[in-house]
Amino acid sequence: MCGITGYIGYRDAYPIIINGLQRLEYRGYDSAGIVLYDGKDIVLSKTKGKVSDLLERTASEISTKGNLGIGHTRWATHGVPNDVNSHPHTSASGELVIVHNGIIENYDTIKKELTNRGYSFKSDTDTEVLVNLIEEVKKQYKVKLGKAVQIALNQVIGAYAIAVFDKSKPDEIVVARLGSPIAIGIGKDKKEFFVASDASPFIEYTKDAIYLEDEEMAIIKVGKDVEIRKIHDDSLVDADVQELQMNLEQIEKSGYDHFMLKEIYEQPRAITDTYRGRLLRNEGLIKMAGVEDNMKKFLNADRIIIVACGTSWHAGLVAEYIFEEFARIPVEVEYASEFRYRNPIITEKDVLIAISQSGETADTLAAVKLAKEKGAFVFGVCNVVGSSIARETHAGAYTHAGPEIGVASTKAFTTQITVLSLMALRLSRAKGTMSSSDYRLHLQELELIPEKVERALKIDEHVKEIAKEYLLSTNCLYLGRGYNFPVALEGALKLKEISYIHAEGYPAAEMKHGPIALIDDRMPVIVIATSMGHYEKVVSNIQEIKSRKGKIIAVVTEGDVQVKEIADHVIEIPETEEAFTPLLTTIPLQLLSYHIAVMRNCNVDQPRNLAKSVTVE
Ligand code: AGP
Ligand code: GLU
Repeated sequence: MCGITGYIGYRDAYPIIINGLQRLEYRGYDSAGIVLYDGKDIVLSKTKGKVSDLLERTASEISTKGNLGIGHTRWATHGVPNDVNSHPHTSASGELVIVHNGIIENYDTIKKELTNRGYSFKSDTDTEVLVNLIEEVKKQYKVKLGKAVQIALNQVIGAYAIAVFDKSKPDEIVVARLGSPIAIGIGKDKKEFFVASDASPFIEYTKDAIYLEDEEMAIIKVGKDVEIRKIHDDSLVDADVQELQMNLEQIEKSGYDHFMLKEIYEQPRAITDTYRGRLLRNEGLIKMAGVEDNMKKFLNADRIIIVACGTSWHAGLVAEYIFEEFARIPVEVEYASEFRYRNPIITEKDVLIAISQSGETADTLAAVKLAKEKGAFVFGVCNVVGSSIARETHAGAYTHAGPEIGVASTKAFTTQITVLSLMALRLSRAKGTMSSSDYRLHLQELELIPEKVERALKIDEHVKEIAKEYLLSTNCLYLGRGYNFPVALEGALKLKEISYIHAEGYPAAEMKHGPIALIDDRMPVIVIATSMGHYEKVVSNIQEIKSRKGKIIAVVTEGDVQVKEIADHVIEIPETEEAFTPLLTTIPLQLLSYHIAVMRNCNVDQPRNLAKSVTVE
């Protein structure tokens, strides 16, 4: 998710925290805030918008004195981006202050419990629930802040990086981590300490840092060693102090050379965060409020119309196969830019699903408005909470991919497919179109996808070797069948948009209807030939290409034998259910386009002529 930063020591905390938030700007965010302890009380300022807006606000709003403080840049998951939902959040008593990155899955249950105990809430966030849980534990158990944080976090399900302090005891900061990073900078002679999502906010002050591991918390006090404990059993952990080698630019990309590569590697976590709290495998349930609350609309729909652009449109094509196979609901997938101008026939019995990472794509937004005017029920799948499309739709489900900075969409694609798969599975249950055993099998398999994506990423070096052979190509063909036809289109788009090599995606069977005329010994053909789905037919397509001297780069299922004998290059990915193969087959294609673009010295994160979000027609 986004960024936290904090300071305790002998310097003024304000400039260090503000500068730290500016350093974390690259992580993308929608709000920013800061709280300082000025020696007597806390002073807090927070706002929707940029760090520059916060700067403006604090300059007039608060005194900027104080040697203790924490700051936050928000990427909203619960509660739209506005001033009230921005961090820091204070507890009901006003004594505790928190900043948080991540998602508290069971915040709703905890909020109900706290409400019953008389708590009220100013914001819609999960984070405000957490700080009040810590306060309630502190009161009930009569313990110090560190112990209260530890007890409270053992009641929490979700992901977090938090920094908390108690204004009645302003000599320590408590931090804790599960699923979101935290770095602790150690000042000379322990006279000052820094906390942050990565080392970029304090790199110029100290090179000595501790990176918390998951399920660890730390109590930070001036003049003392950092006290690190395991959250689940309170056991002490030896601090592993590292000397930072990376420079600022490398830190911003967490050591990756480009945001795109970082985001490709974030996909296991992004997919996990996206199904977190929604895929309850043990109970055999899928929980999606936007679907539950509108189940009748979906069950009575004559059809589902999916509108999107670019990569999101490709995710929509995958969803067409999934919805029709799982839930037996007719699906049409439309380019939003075409749909909005062709005076489409839409009725109240239609459900329109708009897919958009940014939630700001002009054509998709216009298509949503048109469908609403004509009476359709409109559902949004967006990555930016509170974005225009998210606000315009009747209901929706967010992907929790975190900010996607690289113009080439990667983790957005796989998290969109994750959300759409969850929806299709939920509807198949409601319609009885999938057997219980198949349903459970798919729930189980979907939960294994992040680990299989992790395994698929291990082919990176092998793909880089293949990229070396084809970086001078002028044309490229991508072929796939069934679920992987959209992946062929997506692979071609990735190569086009970041390496500027012309590429086309086709259904493999379409070769004979024209494209095979393109084949010669200079034409690399990427073929998705996984064991699930029309395998034998794809093998025949490969043989047709080979007989015309085409170069074959085949994406196959681990253990494949047949294709290995005929392809020039083979990239193996783990086996999975056919419907989920796009979540894995897209990985080598993302990496292939990335490596070719880097070798061609293209600007991978900001390709020429492109914008991250096309907010104009
Ligand atoms: C994909 O890599 C491109 N960045 C582009 O096609 C993108 O998918 C398209 O502009 C749609 O953006 P959206 O998902 O934010 O609506
Ligand atoms: N879930 C919290 C919120 O929505 C934190 C989001 C973040 O990681 O910035 O406020």
